[in-house]
Amino acid sequence: MERQTFSEVLQNWYERNKRELPWRNTRDPYKIWLSEIILQQTRVVQGMPYYHKFVDKYPTIIDLANADEKEVLRLWQGLGYYSRARNMHQTAKIIANDLNGKFPENYAGLVKLKGIGPYTAAAIASFAFDEKVAVVDGNVYRVLARLFGIETDIASHEAKKVFGDLANELISAKNPATHNQAMMEFGATYCTPANPGCMFCIFHYDCEANAKGKQAVLPVKSKK
Ligand code: ADE
Repeated sequence: MERQTFSEVLQNWYERNKRELPWRNTRDPYKIWLSEIILQQTRVVQGMPYYHKFVDKYPTIIDLANADEKEVLRLWQGLGYYSRARNMHQTAKIIANDLNGKFPENYAGLVKLKGIGPYTAAAIASFAFDEKVAVVDGNVYRVLARLFGIETDIASHEAKKVFGDLANELISAKNPATHNQAMMEFGATYCTPANPGCMFCIFHYDCEANAKGKQAVLPVKSKK
């Protein structure tokens, strides 16, 4: 499949099937970052009210940086993994105090910040600043492993490079933000871990896993 065709087909699917999610209607790196932290270990439906609560109470990163930690943790109550909230608060302070309240505007600058790893840096860089850098999360691993029949263990060190390189080859130069949202949405809602909708899939004739009946074994993930 041509690269451009892949991204076009995917984006076309996305425009017709996407969920309307509040963090998709903003270019504010703070709100995008907030949504990605919340969604790291939390489902969209569960995370949504928390996203709204945080944006209402702390509309800017300065507001979050100035907040009392106890108050931040109280607002986080119910989401679990409290280290997420603590790290987020610390990073907000660093950005507010050392960077004038402004997020770095590219991947290289973002990924240097405490608490912002490769995935989150790519999400902010593409969604807020249109940088052509691919997000690679569990959804993306699954879609690529199936589509291209990649048997690399996604728990291995090698996987980061194999899937990362491929994801960055496939990303659209024209619409990196939409492409990234579309990859994640397709993985989260269509190319699902169990019972993916292969029969009516937009990639039905291009997908290795579908051709070989390997949907259930791809992606390969060793138990550690
Ligand atoms: N999960 C993680 N990031 C997401 C996003 N931007 N949209 C929907 N689900 C997500």
